[in-house]
Amino acid sequence: MLRTDVIQKIIDKKKALRYLEIGVNNGDSFFPIEIAQKVGVDPSFAFSEERKLEWASKNLCNATAQYIDATSDAFFASANPIERFDVAFIDGLHTYEQSLQDVLNTLDNLNENGVIVMHDCKPPHVLAACPAQSLQAAIDMNLPGWDGNWCGDVWKTICYLRSNRKDLRVFVLDCDFGLGIVMKGKPDIDLNLSKDELDKMTYEDVLNGKENFLNLKDENYLFEFLETI
Ligand SMILES: C[S@@+](CC[C@H](N)C(=O)[O-])C[C@H]1O[C@@H](n2cnc3c(N)ncnc32)[C@H](O)[C@@H]1O
Repeated sequence: MLRTDVIQKIIDKKKALRYLEIGVNNGDSFFPIEIAQKVGVDPSFAFSEERKLEWASKNLCNATAQYIDATSDAFFASANPIERFDVAFIDGLHTYEQSLQDVLNTLDNLNENGVIVMHDCKPPHVLAACPAQSLQAAIDMNLPGWDGNWCGDVWKTICYLRSNRKDLRVFVLDCDFGLGIVMKGKPDIDLNLSKDELDKMTYEDVLNGKENFLNLKDENYLFEFLETI
């Protein structure tokens, strides 16, 4: 299942009205989403005016969408606290620190039963999980055998949230580079990693670990989840 299918199914089930996407790039995930109000945030949008217009006629909500040319931190620093979101997709800078900050800021701007979807929570291999400060920094490492897919250490945010936020339901759907799902509620399985354990942890530990660190679920678990929101 693709990220857009998962996001749209959540929007449809919740009859959601407001959608936030952090990290839009060329709009592959942003443009197809159908919802009344959409806000896209990216300091470096990567689509032409023609593409934007084409999508505005294909999917009318793109015509009224807001495109915020800023980092997520700058966006949240000036966000209107009254205009909360129902569903958010976090796919900006792929570092542990920034993805965690994006989740925490989004939670502050989310409606009570809102749902966050995070991209890149289950990198396909260790090279894709390489920690770096940006995509360019990952490219500059010239990692032998790397295929160009860069998820970074976003997966650590899942482990952090599961260990430190017992007020959140957190799991990862095993599709499209791992789609993390975060919403308020009771965790289904406990994880208790200390700060030190988390800091030292590598993606090899996730792949080799006996523990289900990511609370990874088959993609079809989405349908069970949808019944509960
Ligand atoms: C992987 S792309 C997003 C892809 C898109 N969501 C999709 O599914 O097609 C990541 C985007 O995050 C943006 N980005 C990088 N740092 C960011 C930040 N601090 N805040 C918001 N977006 C950021 C980049 O400019 C890039 O366009």
